Amino acid sequence: MELPLPRWFAHRGGGSLAPENTLAGIRLAARLGYRAVEFDVMLSGDGTPVLIHDETLERTTNGVGRVCEMPDAELFALDAGHGERIPRLAEAAALCRQYGLLANVEIKPAGGFERQTAEVVARQVDVLWQGAEVMPLLSSFSLEAVEIARDLAPALSRGLLFERVPVDWQQEMQRLQAVTLHCNALHLADDTLVALKESAIPVLCYTVNDTERARALFARGVSAVFTDRLDLFASETSAYKGLQLGG
Ligand code: G3P
Ligand code: MG
Repeated sequence: MELPLPRWFAHRGGGSLAPENTLAGIRLAARLGYRAVEFDVMLSGDGTPVLIHDETLERTTNGVGRVCEMPDAELFALDAGHGERIPRLAEAAALCRQYGLLANVEIKPAGGFERQTAEVVARQVDVLWQGAEVMPLLSSFSLEAVEIARDLAPALSRGLLFERVPVDWQQEMQRLQAVTLHCNALHLADDTLVALKESAIPVLCYTVNDTERARALFARGVSAVFTDRLDLFASETSAYKGLQLGG
């Protein structure tokens, strides 16, 4: 299976032009020519995988409390911005498949729910993208979650996600059989990037909301960036053909 790696990923669904981690955001990304979208997936109180970034509801919805304690009936009645609902993973998968978007599914477990979240998300992703032309890319800051995904759904591509790339990145990439490395653009040292390039590992950087910074990162050898500023890169998204990764 080949993984086409676009250069620009719409961050948290549609970035900042639409409510984050919503179907409206994903639709907007597709309309603006994006070929890849990153979103965060957490379990509801009923164990349903849903798109949301924070462990609590206050910042992005009109709800109050913890996502992992909220029953679906209440969670899906909330407003996630401009009348959008919190989407189920299944709905986001259907939309990404419809638009041919590469989905970077970030497994975002609430504290203490690492195993449960990884199991549910890996199993669902495996089924939801069965036979798809563009297969998704799983990632997580939780290496435990990535390990569980590797064991349950080995055929799915995996990326390791770090705030700062650790010194033992090479061992972790091998151990978890990951194909990409994702990290904060602010903390990516040149010597680390050179070593990653020598190992032919594509590096994806978050969160890049400035065209000059994106250009500088690409010039240094970064393969892709996650952006909230979909408007800034819209003219470039459709033109770029992307790298091909063997998987
Ligand atoms: O997956 C890349 C990026 O989304 C990680 O940061 O906090 O926005 O999920 P965060
Ligand atoms: Mg994320």
